[in-house]
Amino acid sequence: MSTAQASVGVIVVAAGSGTRLGYGLPKAQVPLAGETILAHALRGVVESGVAARICVAVPAGDTALRQVCAGFAAQHPEVDISTVDGGASRAASVAAALRGLGEGATRVLVHDAARALTPPEVFQRVADALAAGARAVVPAVAVVDTIKTATPSTGAEADIAPEKVAATVDRVQLRAVQTPQGFDAAALAQAHQSLAGLAPAEADGITDEALLMERSGIDVMLVPGSAQALKITTQLDLAVAEALLAARQPNTMEG
Ligand code: CTP
Ligand code: MG
Repeated sequence: MSTAQASVGVIVVAAGSGTRLGYGLPKAQVPLAGETILAHALRGVVESGVAARICVAVPAGDTALRQVCAGFAAQHPEVDISTVDGGASRAASVAAALRGLGEGATRVLVHDAARALTPPEVFQRVADALAAGARAVVPAVAVVDTIKTATPSTGAEADIAPEKVAATVDRVQLRAVQTPQGFDAAALAQAHQSLAGLAPAEADGITDEALLMERSGIDVMLVPGSAQALKITTQLDLAVAEALLAARQPNTMEG
């Protein structure tokens, strides 16, 4: 393991309920090609080789996902894998896992278990940019849709449609950001301390860590993400993820 890898900790947030997926299980526990979503996510982290330690935030009281982590820990003694109870918001789960990682890591990657098929190269790009001196790094992809802002229709218009177009956003400047997002550990810890005591509704508005860095005036660098790093949110996304995995293993389709 290189010196750079020796100081990288990876947080995997897997404590969400998966309401929009509607599977009746916490999302990270939902099966995808015969394994849990969390197992796929952990494989990407471990195969990337960037992590000296991993802390996974799981739903409070969970045992099934802790078992998945224990299985990975047994197979990969070179990586220190631990679990913590997550919180009521994603931000609270990140904060809990930050505490769980402990003091040793000088750089931290924060990854959504829901982005289960993120290729190892994306972790490496983020870790490499941190090693090169960036304090905050986010993988991003160009936006292919034409994006418009909407405003509520008023008066007689409201009988035709509830909303109308306010403006068209210049797509050339837009980026859809993904995880893992990488940070200088001290900067991330400081940003999270500023969140302590935030009302749950406000914490829900913190959908990524880069936002906290932007607020602190820290430059957030963008590296190429991947279409395969889609966030599994709905049943459609789960079907796409199944198809992506089938395409990665063409031989098993023939036999
Ligand atoms: N997450 C978490 N703790 C929470 C909420 C979310 O660790 N209290 C994690 C999820 O497990 C997921 C990532 O944050 O890996 C992104 O969240 P999202 O895709 O919204 O997942 P869920 O919150 O589980 O889904 P939903 O919003 O549909 O309930
Ligand atoms: Mg959610």
